[in-house]
Amino acid sequence: MAIEQTLILAKPDAVARGLVGEIIARFERRGYTIAALKLMKVDGNRARTHYAEHAGKPFFDGLVQYITSAPVVAMVIEGSDAIEGCRATIGATHPIKAAPGSIRGDYGQTIGRNLAHGSDSSESAQREIPIWFAPLEIASRPHDQTQWLVGT
Ligand code: RTP
Ligand code: MG
Repeated sequence: MAIEQTLILAKPDAVARGLVGEIIARFERRGYTIAALKLMKVDGNRARTHYAEHAGKPFFDGLVQYITSAPVVAMVIEGSDAIEGCRATIGATHPIKAAPGSIRGDYGQTIGRNLAHGSDSSESAQREIPIWFAPLEIASRPHDQTQWLVGT
């Protein structure tokens, strides 16, 4: 078991549709904790840096246009094997392939409006988190449940 941090975005469609609370709740109910959270506008530089792996692909310009078109909610979510776990909670990239019960499977129709982003590996999480958050904006908390239950 490894405690991991992962970069999650509630994308512009999720914010515009009022699904931010629903998305955050799914991570929290799984037992993950919020280590950082903010609503923000995204400029082109940040969008292109975040999605650098897709530069040159046919959908890249549309992806940057979409992510910069309206506010997003960025967060760092933390927990045991949180990178893979949050990807599962988000669901497959195309909502049609995403399992019912996942965020994309429950709320999405098209690949271009798929509600949420989650880092896809440890390397991606380490690269992505500093794009969105300064170190002092991240507040990691203890994961010993006993501490919260009995106040030790
Ligand atoms: P994300 O990075 O946003 O969490 O999504 P992902 O890992 O599931 O998928 P990825 O392959 O990283 O693609 C990033 C985003 O680009 C859009 N996309 N469109 N039209 C297309 O073929 C296509 N392929 C990808 C999606 O919005 C995807 O989330
Ligand atoms: Mg991706």
